[in-house]
Amino acid sequence: MAKKLYVKTYGCQMNVYDSARMADVLAPLGFGTTDGPEDADMVILNTCHIREKASEKVFSELGRLKTLQAARARDGERLILAVAGCVAQAEGEEILRRAPFVDIVLGPQTYHRLPEMVAQASRAGGAVLDTDFPEEPKFDHLPDVTAQGVSAFLSVQEGCDRFCTFCVVPYTRGAEYSRPVPAVLAEARRLVEGGVVEITLLGQNVNAYHGEGPDGRDWSLARLLDALAGIPGLARIRYTTSHPRDVSDDLIAVHRDLPHLMPFLHLPVQSGSDRILERMNRRHDRAFYLALVDRLKTARPDLALSSDFIVGFPGESDADFSATLDLVRRVGFVQTYSFKYSPRPGTPAAALEDQVAEAVKEERLAQLQALLNDQTQAFNRACVGRVMPVLFDRAGRHPGQVLGRSPYMQPVHLDSGENLAGRVVPVRITATHPNSLAGIPAGERECA
Ligand code: 5AD
Ligand code: SF4
Repeated sequence: MAKKLYVKTYGCQMNVYDSARMADVLAPLGFGTTDGPEDADMVILNTCHIREKASEKVFSELGRLKTLQAARARDGERLILAVAGCVAQAEGEEILRRAPFVDIVLGPQTYHRLPEMVAQASRAGGAVLDTDFPEEPKFDHLPDVTAQGVSAFLSVQEGCDRFCTFCVVPYTRGAEYSRPVPAVLAEARRLVEGGVVEITLLGQNVNAYHGEGPDGRDWSLARLLDALAGIPGLARIRYTTSHPRDVSDDLIAVHRDLPHLMPFLHLPVQSGSDRILERMNRRHDRAFYLALVDRLKTARPDLALSSDFIVGFPGESDADFSATLDLVRRVGFVQTYSFKYSPRPGTPAAALEDQVAEAVKEERLAQLQALLNDQTQAFNRACVGRVMPVLFDRAGRHPGQVLGRSPYMQPVHLDSGENLAGRVVPVRITATHPNSLAGIPAGERECA
């Protein structure tokens, strides 16, 4: 009988991608996916360390699953529990100590060994802990991608060598590694053959990409993007997440030259204060960031920016925080992620003495988010009347309605008798709603 797998994903797009790959590697063992733990034979919690209280959330979810696992055992059935992702990497031993009913703990580098671990866990009672960083990269052991829609993620780079003082990634995901160009191009071609028209390249520091090309030399992200743009049928390309220091001249040039590359860039700045940027070990200051934004917008005038911010980093004064607000006002962001600083065990910033009080962090986050939200809404309003190419991917909630994404990732809905899934269609934006835009079809020649 077919077995059922439920994967609960926390956190970033990288984790969404990893969850799909874990489902892929378990498919040959007879696992199909299901939407909840109730009817599952195996549950994987694919965790993220970045968000606040991430590990506590995982432990409370595990508490609920333990009850379910015990109920199954009473019926003579087995529920295999696995914890994957960054919490597993950082706190593997702790998980097995606090939650000994967990069968498998696996770090992000060892997904290809999941079938073997499941087999081991099914045979034995003892838990399996696998959070090594193997010498060989994991990508090449994974089977071909199966799950897909019109838009897909493609992981090209993992890990990070930048060591920002607040961040666990260099410790949990390990050293920076770029996947070879031919493997990336082959996966992209397979995705496009399967109906994908938009690919988002993923990596923790994706613009540090330097994968080996077919010529034996290291290719930059710009060169890779250029090669991807040559794949017939691939209409749109995005990449995330970038470090400002790794935006090279050739990357700026492809933003100018490649129509496939969407004019939307996630470029985390974290803070607008030079003193805090220094303490964060970001290796860029506000002047560098502002000048970079200018260069990017000169190359691609319709470029819009997204970013990440941390408020309440140790030592952040009112003046430092004001500098962040000032930078936000100068740049104007259209979509953002903002966080209260949260100390991560083992990172240098966690050991700093001048931690900021929780109430101050909350106050600053509310103030920053109000400003960022105003900017997002202002950008949405400015889109009304514009014609934008929209990639449609699914039916909307109402009959005859279709949903898609603008170049800036805004959801756009449209009333259309036609099934537009997989097509990029020019749409005149007619209204904004809190979380989406509405539009009407525009004549083909109208499209900018
Ligand atoms: N505290 C708060 N936010 C953090 N981020 C990473 N580490 C921390 C931390 N310790 C945020 C950064 C990063 C995003 C993915 O998560 O803004 O860009
Ligand atoms: Fe973490 Fe990004 Fe800094 Fe790397 S560049 S250490 S992933 S915040």
